Amino acid sequence: MTQFSLLESTDEHARAARRAEKLRKELERHNRLYHQLDAPEITDEAYDALFRELVELEETFPDLRTLDSPTRRVGGAVLSSLETRPHRERMYGLDNVFSAEEWAGFQQKAFRALPEASPEVMSAWWADPKLDGLACELTYENGILVQALTRGDGEVGEVVTESMRTVRNLPLRLNGKDAFPPRRLEVRGEVLMFRKEFEELNERQTALGQKRFANPRNAAAGSLRQLDSSVTAARKLRFLAYGVGELDVQYRKPWETYEELMKALSDYGFETPPQGRLCHNLEEAESYYRYVEGTRDLLPFEIDGVVYKLNNREAQRALGFTARAPRFAVAWKFTARRAETRLRRIMIQVGRTGVLTPVAELEPVSLGGVVVSRATLHNEDEIRRLDVRENDTVVIQRAGDVIPDVVGPVLEKRPEGLPPYEFPRTCPVCGVPVRRLKGEAAWRCLNMSCPAVIMRSIVHFVSKAGLDVDGIGQKWVETLIESGRVKSPADLFTVTQKELMSYERMGEISAVNFVSALEKARLSASLSRFIAALGIRLVGEQTARTLAGHYKNMDELCAADVEELLQLPDIGPEVAGSIRAFFENSSNRELLERFRELGLWPQRQDKTETEAAALSGKKVLFTGTLSRPRDEYRRMAEAQGANVASAVSRNLDYLIAGENPGSKLVKAQELGIRVLDETAFLKLLETKASRPE
Ligand code: IVH
Repeated sequence: MTQFSLLESTDEHARAARRAEKLRKELERHNRLYHQLDAPEITDEAYDALFRELVELEETFPDLRTLDSPTRRVGGAVLSSLETRPHRERMYGLDNVFSAEEWAGFQQKAFRALPEASPEVMSAWWADPKLDGLACELTYENGILVQALTRGDGEVGEVVTESMRTVRNLPLRLNGKDAFPPRRLEVRGEVLMFRKEFEELNERQTALGQKRFANPRNAAAGSLRQLDSSVTAARKLRFLAYGVGELDVQYRKPWETYEELMKALSDYGFETPPQGRLCHNLEEAESYYRYVEGTRDLLPFEIDGVVYKLNNREAQRALGFTARAPRFAVAWKFTARRAETRLRRIMIQVGRTGVLTPVAELEPVSLGGVVVSRATLHNEDEIRRLDVRENDTVVIQRAGDVIPDVVGPVLEKRPEGLPPYEFPRTCPVCGVPVRRLKGEAAWRCLNMSCPAVIMRSIVHFVSKAGLDVDGIGQKWVETLIESGRVKSPADLFTVTQKELMSYERMGEISAVNFVSALEKARLSASLSRFIAALGIRLVGEQTARTLAGHYKNMDELCAADVEELLQLPDIGPEVAGSIRAFFENSSNRELLERFRELGLWPQRQDKTETEAAALSGKKVLFTGTLSRPRDEYRRMAEAQGANVASAVSRNLDYLIAGENPGSKLVKAQELGIRVLDETAFLKLLETKASRPE
């Protein structure tokens, strides 16, 4: 009997093992389709079902939880402190150059150090953007990720294996049909946080009263070096591979050039720096540098220069290293986006949630080609930490945000007797004493009828982050509020053309445009835009989209309880609580009733409506410099039912290319994807949009 059940359970175990193996493969394939190729084949629900099945199998048979299991991507292991381990091969830094002359000088030195090498070999350099993140080394043994080390001091790094397993765009098992994956492959690259995620993280940090990160690099470092890997998992880091450490590739011929190596890394399933290419002379190196510098803001992450690596790996080995850097690779850095200027005064802005934000008013100064006259100081603690005072000379820099940061005062230039800055204890707009809630860094004006809070929430309602009403200027919204005509966002929709024209400087055309823009928004607002416009604390555009994807209309959302909200992806207790609190508040309920009466009560677009749209179900991608902000084009495309991709893949329908389109264009052409210029794209929207269905 005992023997029989043992047999039975072994059998069951074998079945489970086969199923788990299949699930792992499938999940990783879908992960790759979703995160790297931007071409999901199954719905999120179907993915979750497969995922849950694997979790259950692994819970029943813990030995099936392999090191490359996708379930590790959600993190969970909590360590007491980060262990350190030596790198097998030292991770060197790079020497920097700052001009074409210095670049040429570096190359000359390499030429001289290896006089026997042919000029062809010594002139071909692989170039790619210098990623501004945190260097990391991943070790794969027999194709499986077994260790991740930060760069540390180059000799010894911190073990961040569990955390790195949560990074979605790296393979836990090397791709490829190879029966013999490399016995050992150390992949080196940069861990990055994309600008968007960085901004969202800082918003969350502010909302929770926690310290903001100064730039995406610090945020990436802070997020990776976590003892609890589920924190890392929530931070959405990425890994871009740009090199290798120790190698044991078994039967394969080692890669002869950097170009081949990069191709191999990408075949193994790694994302690599975009736009990498070979340069054969100073001219090409310089023009590539200018191109990357000119398009850096189009990338979703921060870069700080271009790295050039001798293409021939044999010649690399022959050149070797100086005490601190390779002789075969160099970074041509961008000129810093830092500048010095005088801080005229510290203004306090009162935001839509009542938070008092100090803003540095600066003597205008040019920073990376943009004239800057304001910088954010975030909160009182930040001012105190930096000890910046009105009339100080300060260093400012542009990090991830468009609004620059104040790095600190230049103490040598501080005039004598400048008093430290005193943060106000009353709201500068309504005069009511401000409060600093427990555990929060921000002072808040809690007066519900503070004119600043009301004004900001109305402005937010129609802004890009809200309903995105085209063509009504913020100034006019402010005027209407100041005159007392508009007291809530709902009032805006009742303002008539005639009323508007009674205001000074409001002509007939502007008045007509104003009213029709709001009318258009009222009739066509999508559910997700409407939710985002409400300005519920902690609910930004992303969460609004999640909610709108799940609930058919506002009535369903208003009725959702916390338990139910917690079932949705990316919604934690804090967000769920905030949503519930919003709908339970009686003045919010009144406001919603008014919207309903006004007919501004969107339903989720049903299928037939979406299908009728011009680009329904089409996948589009924008690249290069366009004449309007890319965000605007994204919205236009989405409004017509398109999915906007972030990378070229086989199932892309259109690539819309502006000037200097770069490698995406090349790739799209290779794959035979239709490429449109801006004019053709706009035509497509028009013709199709007016087509009767
Ligand atoms: S190649 C042997 N390529 O910059 C040198 N490095 O400041 C191999 N980095 O330690 C490095 N982007 O961590 C290379 N595209 C890129 C890079 C890159 C960033 C880092 C790397 C290096 C640091 C030096």
